[in-house]
Amino acid sequence: MSGAPGAPQGAWDRLQALRAEAAGRRILDLFAADPDRAARFSARAGGMLFDYSKTAIDAEARAGLLDLAAGAGVAARARAMMAGEPVNATEGRAALHTALRDPDGPPLIVDGADVRPGIRSVLSRMERFAEDVRTGRFEAAGGAVADVVNIGIGGSDLGPAMAVRALAPYHDGPRCHFVSNVDGADIADTLAPLDPARTLVIVASKTFTTVETMTNAETARAWMAEAVADPAAQVAALSTAMARTAAFGIPEARVFPFADWVGGRYSVWGPIGLSLMIAIGPARFRDFLAGARWMDRHFLEAAPEANMPLLLALTGIWHAQVCGHATRAVLPYDERLARLPAYLQQLEMESNGKRVAMDGSDLARPAGPVIWGEPGTNGQHAFMQSVHQGTEVVPCEFLLAAEGHEPALAHHHRLLVANCLAQSEALMRGRTLAEARARLADRFEGDELERQARHRVFPGDRPSVTLAYPKLTPEMLGRILALYEHRVFAEGVILGINSFDQWGVELGKELATALGPVLEARESAESKDGSTRQLVGYLTGQGRG
Ligand code: F6P
Repeated sequence: MSGAPGAPQGAWDRLQALRAEAAGRRILDLFAADPDRAARFSARAGGMLFDYSKTAIDAEARAGLLDLAAGAGVAARARAMMAGEPVNATEGRAALHTALRDPDGPPLIVDGADVRPGIRSVLSRMERFAEDVRTGRFEAAGGAVADVVNIGIGGSDLGPAMAVRALAPYHDGPRCHFVSNVDGADIADTLAPLDPARTLVIVASKTFTTVETMTNAETARAWMAEAVADPAAQVAALSTAMARTAAFGIPEARVFPFADWVGGRYSVWGPIGLSLMIAIGPARFRDFLAGARWMDRHFLEAAPEANMPLLLALTGIWHAQVCGHATRAVLPYDERLARLPAYLQQLEMESNGKRVAMDGSDLARPAGPVIWGEPGTNGQHAFMQSVHQGTEVVPCEFLLAAEGHEPALAHHHRLLVANCLAQSEALMRGRTLAEARARLADRFEGDELERQARHRVFPGDRPSVTLAYPKLTPEMLGRILALYEHRVFAEGVILGINSFDQWGVELGKELATALGPVLEARESAESKDGSTRQLVGYLTGQGRG
């Protein structure tokens, strides 16, 4: 490939020109001009409907965005990724999470060896262990396992924690809990109500060196040691680092390994998903994998204009890089997806929150936006005020199931749907000054009418996309997560960055390690800046008086 990595400059220029030409045109004008706009700016696949018609993207802009993707070679890069090529170029390795969800696929050679047999064998071991735990064949000191505590952080926590919560209606195994923060409050509060003699601890860490996880794992082991003779018998490990799991005292039979080509934030599909498998059972876990596998095929095979991950990526590029909106809200109108925004924060911001391109050159444009969000309808009573009337435009992504899991509460679901649709409609439609005046005319007049009315104006023309799906089943969750993974990948290719490294987390880790001895007063804080010295003094009690 010649020139800077990513999409060619000409394709970016064309999009900027289209954006400038359309200044002043509103999204509602696009609907007025095209009665079929909703259908023509939507994609349907796998039972899902992705509607991006409530954006300023018109036919020309979409063509320009598709050119951008073609120019960056998204399709070829997707094939390369799934074929096991070393697409993670700064760490010199593959990014093969797609292989985890396709254990029975054709041979897949990485570094001279077929990776499928290893994936199949670990998956079968996980299934046997999960069934043993679920049926009580695996016994803790006090009998069958009642509670499972997954200790991990980042990708070793967010994936399973989000998915376990998302699939609560399918739980028929022991209760699952998640401890991630090194703040002792997290593990103390989690363990307090549990019986150590009936608890299984899963230490989830790709590297088995992450200080938060190792500290929490030691605390959990000490907690169990007070009540059971052999605490190691109630610990399992999910890791790539077999020597370190052995050094921690976890027998090989309860270590579920994976390869270093599984990135942390892409790891829920393999051993890191063990807690989910224990919660919902191996068969449903296989459905979850099948859902993701379906989306992998769709991403590889669907035509660009019908390709859901690609279109989702292009709406992201349009809003962040072409329109310059710095943040994006993810708003699941699905309470069980409460942890999805946090999961997507890691997926998107750790992947695409970069400042240099593949070749080390400075990026020519802003990279991944800030991702944030909360489930609806809660967000409506918190931050949506700003999204409707604030000075910053925040593109929103709504997620919504046609059907809930509570047939007896169908009226709740109708209200949920009505609220979700009303938000995207209100964002687009807005309310003019004339409309606001008319609503107040019977209460105010003159200057006071004007003043009051101005507070009630909604600028409107605020973009959103909506992903609707039939029901949040294990398979559908797999589809949704893989959809987002591929969207992040496609955005990364278009921007020309490596979405699979995360060097930005390193400096803070190094400095935290260096501050340990300072906080223990074994080393002086002299080399630190004035602010850090002052804070160390205050927090260690010397500078508080
Ligand atoms: O610090 C960032 C990170 O490396 C994430 O990418 C990863 O998901 C998390 O830490 C946990 O890492 P590990 O699984 O090795 O404990």
